[in-house]
Parts: sequence; C-alpha cells; structure tokens
Amino acid sequence: MSRDADGSNTGTPNQVERATVALDAAFGPDGDAPSSRSTPAPTVAVAPGRVNLVGGHTDYNDGLCLPMAVDRHVAVAARPRSDDRLRVRAADFDETAELDPDDDPGGWAAYVAAVARVLREDDPVGGADLAIASDVPTGAGLSSSAALELAVGRALLAVSGRDRPVADLALACWRAEVEGVGVECGILDQFSAALCEADSALFLDCRSRETESVPLGDDAGVLVIDTGVSHELTESGYNDRVRECEAALDRLREVADRGLDSLRDVDRALLDAHADALESVHSRRVRHVVTENERVRRARDALAAGDLDRVGDAMLAAHESLRDDYEVSCPELDAAVELAAETPGVYGARMTGGGFGGSAVALVDGDALDRAERAIRAAAPERVGPDATCSPAARRPAFDWSARSKREPTAPRGVSGKIGTRVPCVLPWFRFGLRLVEQRSTLCCWLAEAYASSNEANRGFAGSTSRFTPRRILSSEARLIRRRLTPRRTASRRRPCALRRRPCPASRRGPASPESRCTRPR
Ligand code: GLA
Repeated sequence: MSRDADGSNTGTPNQVERATVALDAAFGPDGDAPSSRSTPAPTVAVAPGRVNLVGGHTDYNDGLCLPMAVDRHVAVAARPRSDDRLRVRAADFDETAELDPDDDPGGWAAYVAAVARVLREDDPVGGADLAIASDVPTGAGLSSSAALELAVGRALLAVSGRDRPVADLALACWRAEVEGVGVECGILDQFSAALCEADSALFLDCRSRETESVPLGDDAGVLVIDTGVSHELTESGYNDRVRECEAALDRLREVADRGLDSLRDVDRALLDAHADALESVHSRRVRHVVTENERVRRARDALAAGDLDRVGDAMLAAHESLRDDYEVSCPELDAAVELAAETPGVYGARMTGGGFGGSAVALVDGDALDRAERAIRAAAPERVGPDATCSPAARRPAFDWSARSKREPTAPRGVSGKIGTRVPCVLPWFRFGLRLVEQRSTLCCWLAEAYASSNEANRGFAGSTSRFTPRRILSSEARLIRRRLTPRRTASRRRPCALRRRPCPASRRGPASPESRCTRPR
C-alpha cells in the first residue's frame, strides 16, 4: 500500500505501530468494549508479501512452486466488538468502512468482507474494529492482497478467541479471493503468506498441499525489481490463461490413454505424443506447466544443496518459458530480468507473480547484494522504465512475522521508533570499524560478537519481535564478517547474461543491439 520514497512508512515494526495508532485514532482506545470489560489490548496480526523464485502459473494446475516471503508486511490491529459489525480503518488510504455481515463492498474492503464471510461459515467470528497498515506495494506482483487476507483472517480469529490450523486459514483466504473478489487464482499467494518462514523458501505442492521449508543459506541474497508497471489480475489475461489450461486438459483427456486429473499429470512424453492434437497455443501453455514443475524440483534440490548457480539457471529458464510459451511477461519485465542477469553477482532472475507488469526477482550472491542493488537501481529507470526500483527482498535476519500474529500487547509506543533511529546511527560506524581490520584479523569476529551481546539498545525493544532487535542485527553483522573470512563454498563470479534474448516486437526499445546480445549459448 504505502510506497514512501523516503522509507518513512516502510519497515515492519512501523506497520505494527501504524496499525495500532490508527486503530485508537479511528475508534478510540476503548472501541465499543462493554464497560464491565476492561479495555482489551489490541491484537496485532501480521502477514508478509512474497516473491516466487520458480513455479509461475503452476498453482492452479495442481503444480509446484518455490516462493519466499519478503520483509514487506500487512499489519492489522484489532479489538473485538459486542455486535457483528466490522469497522475497518485503512491507514494507507485514509478511509474507513463499516460493514454488516451481508454487505458486499468494492475496493480494499471487499477483501476484508470476503474473509469474514468465509470464516463465519465454520466459526462464530464476532464483530471487530480493525486498522490496516501495509508497506507491501499494491500492483507490484508481491501479493499484497493475500497478505491482507491472511492478516485480517488471523486478527478476526484471534479477537473471537478462535484458532485454525494455518493451512485451513490459508485455504479460507484463498476461497475469499476466488469467490469474493473473482480472481480464479491458485493457492500460491495465500499459502506463502501463511507458511513461508524467515530466511527460507517454501517448496509447495499445490496438489497435496504439502510444504517444506528450504533454507536460503548464508550465501544467498534476493532482490526485487519493481518495474513500476502496475499489474491487476482482475483485468489482465490471468483468467484467460486459466481457461486455456482447462481447454488443453480437456483435449488431452480425450486423446490420452490414461486418466488426467489436472495438468500436473501431464509429462513431457505424453505432451510430445499428443502435441498435434492440441492447438499450438495450448500446446505451448502445457509445455510451460510441464517444464516449470521440473524446474521447481531442480531449484528446490539445488537450493537445499547450496548450488545457487543451478537455482539461478532454473530462474532464467523459467523466465524464458513464461515469456515465450506462457506469454505473461511484458517488455519492462523482460528488461528487468536482462538487466539483473548482466549484473555481477546475480545468479538468475525471473518475473514473479501473475505477470503483465509487477516485479522481477533476482537471486544474488549475498556478498554482492549491496553492489548489485545499487547497480540495478541506477540503471533501472533507463533500462526498465521511469518508475522502476530495486530493493532487497529481505534484510538478514528477517522479521519474524509469525511472532506478531498472536494475541499480545504491541510494543510500547515510542519504543519501536528506536529501530529507525538508534540502529542506523550505530551501524555505519560499526561496519566501518570492522571493515578496517577485516582483511587482517579474525579479531573483528570477536569484536562483533562482544559488541552485539553487550549492546544496551536491545533492552528498549519489546521482546516479542525478537528477530528484529538491534542485537540480532549486529550479530548478523558478525556472521557476515565471519563469512567473508571463510573460504566460500560457491565461487562468486561475474555471470554472463544467460538469458536467450528474443527481439520483442512490443518493446519500446526495439530489438536488442548486437553488443548487448547474450554470449553464453544455452
Ligand atoms: C498470481 C496468483 C497466483 C499464481 C501467480 C502466478 O499471483 O494469485 O495464484 O497463479 O499469479 O504464479
């Protein structure tokens, strides 16, 4: 929602604080609590946006995905009401909605109403006063709507004293999106917002709904390149792609000699045997789904083995497939991926989310992350588009959103501000001092650990956000320095652009110049 250039509204603790302040400002600190009850501390629920490393448009075909959470979040502060109304304040839009259970609003309130409606089918979810604050940009392909649904769902259940297994809640939020908002999406976004763990990718089987956390490892960094071109699933060709996959599946069912529940059951051999029976466009859509599932498996295994080169290769191949076979990319996304692939330290990149705009994601050598971010950010306005930006998907250590999604008092007001003020004051000097000695001695490791563990600043911040304290940040600095002093598992190198370029007729820039053509045959 918020896209403040100066970053003043960004940062997850800030969203928690903003939601809490907005709740009190809109509805008063007592809400409509009956006088016999003491004023309840607000519940604050948080859910993250996501990028998808590999596995695009496979979810509604019962396929495989490999998403990870970004440290942009939706926070929802909530207090129960004595009736069944929802009063909802959207801090980012400066708007308030009042909803009765049967209301069917439009805009952002549609997501809140749809989640409440679906939850009430199985749970006696009461009314609530809610305030929403977010720094997940809308239309950027980072799944702001699923993050909103999950945070609202968690908040509503918590204030009603209910609980659900997290996968059930994710499914309820998915139904809210499909039935309430009209996007025929798969479960990727809601499962990502519900189940991604910090510093890990989530291997998600959309058929069995089994998940497995795959740690990113210390050597990996991830960048998000927002093209600045807004994507809107309800108005894009997204539902057309869903229809095309259904049509292809129907045809394959007619000609195949075995039962097919979904395109997940199609493999290369079956597709090759019956490609002629399909319209050419349908054959390309199926080829994307089949090969993308293979790439997700490859990327999962490679990530688990710490082979970031192979993960990067899978990402680049996924982008080609989404661009050429599935046709959901656009010139700005192609340019963002090309720019990333040419940048030193980048292992691979691809569009993420539904496509037709939004963001690209790049997997980067952790040590080169800052440099790669600066290089891409500098070149993006000219290469990608005037509003294009680049930022890390997650700081290390990542904010632990699950810790905030419990019924607990929020950080005392004013205290969380220290995240924004004290740490940045200390950190540049700390880094400077360490880098002076980093080449010569392991002493800096000891220094960093000692500094981190004695750091007084930690004491002021609420313990519940334990993964985002100054002490943790400084400890992670210590880890970073130690890594620099240790021989690397994966050699850091400049990768030639591995993306097969295709002159794009729709591109504003026209075909690639011979100089910028890829040098590495694939
Ligand atoms: C959108 C949808 C998801 C998924 C992706 C493409 O984000 O909401 O369900 O289909 O596009 O992978």
